[in-house]
Amino acid sequence: MENHTKEELQDPTMQVSSLNCIDLANDDLHHSACLDCGFFYVINHGITEEFMDDVFEQSKKFFALPLEEKMKVLRNEKHRGYTPVLDEILDPENQVNGDHKEGYYIGIEVPKDDPNYDKPFYGPNPWPDSDVLPQWRETMEKYHQEALRVSKDIGRLLALALDLDANYFDTPEMLGKPIATMRLLHYEGVSDPSKGIYACGAHTDYGMMTLLATDGVMGLQICKDKNAKPQKWEYVPAIKGAYIVNLGDMLERWSNGFFKSTLHRVLGNGQERYSIPFFVEPNHECLVECLPTCKSESNVPKYPAIKCSAYLTQRYKETHAELSIYNQEI
Ligand code: OGA
Ligand code: NI
Repeated sequence: MENHTKEELQDPTMQVSSLNCIDLANDDLHHSACLDCGFFYVINHGITEEFMDDVFEQSKKFFALPLEEKMKVLRNEKHRGYTPVLDEILDPENQVNGDHKEGYYIGIEVPKDDPNYDKPFYGPNPWPDSDVLPQWRETMEKYHQEALRVSKDIGRLLALALDLDANYFDTPEMLGKPIATMRLLHYEGVSDPSKGIYACGAHTDYGMMTLLATDGVMGLQICKDKNAKPQKWEYVPAIKGAYIVNLGDMLERWSNGFFKSTLHRVLGNGQERYSIPFFVEPNHECLVECLPTCKSESNVPKYPAIKCSAYLTQRYKETHAELSIYNQEI
């Protein structure tokens, strides 16, 4: 726990959540039992703190560029690139305008001559000018590879927890050729829930799981029971060197509700904040339908089967501004 002021920790209204922790260096089976909440920490994932610091350094350098420079790599129709402040609105019922954050999506690089090029979410990434930000692309591509490796390790634990073969998700149809998107985020620090202003509105993530790295500034909150009235929100403190991992809606569907995607949001506390979620979804073509071990005569599938890319396209459409609004402005 870092970056907490004494006042914060003494504030009785500031509920802090205690989450389970999974140690990837010691992944004996009983750890799977720790997956009772859709959020947990993961340690010993093999990504060094030095490298993580480097990725955050590069991320800050990008967001520090003039807006004009950032707009040169504006998000494209494949959902790669820069998203300006307010571009996204995750909780329209409670938010008066979009999220007070800017971001940058980076996915798996798919060249024009690849047969998969036409698929949504596949394509080339726009990259900032390497004269302006040397080593930036290399750093991000290396991080993407490393985070994907960690995701596959966690995928094995999830499979075991579901009574599946450890490598169940490690096929070309699933995590072998996944849609995996990292996103650099920069929060302005503003929030006023009483006025409907949020750093990031309440939502569940769309995919299988998300690996979240943050700079340690408090802000992330989870609501373990979305149906409770009033909802109870708890802060999730960062632990240096640990990922905060959360399970997404596709895994909830796959597992027939055995795993829950947990509602979460970010409040600003006046401080700027940087974070890097790594969103893991299976292959475009993957049909996300009730897993064989998650159904029985008394436990029939609760969700219709959906194709990964179609589901994801719909969820992005619901939450992101139409790209055409930017045409007039640049
Ligand atoms: C997200 C998210 C949390 C954070 O981008 O989906 O929940 O701490 N981010 O930035
Ligand atoms: Ni999220």
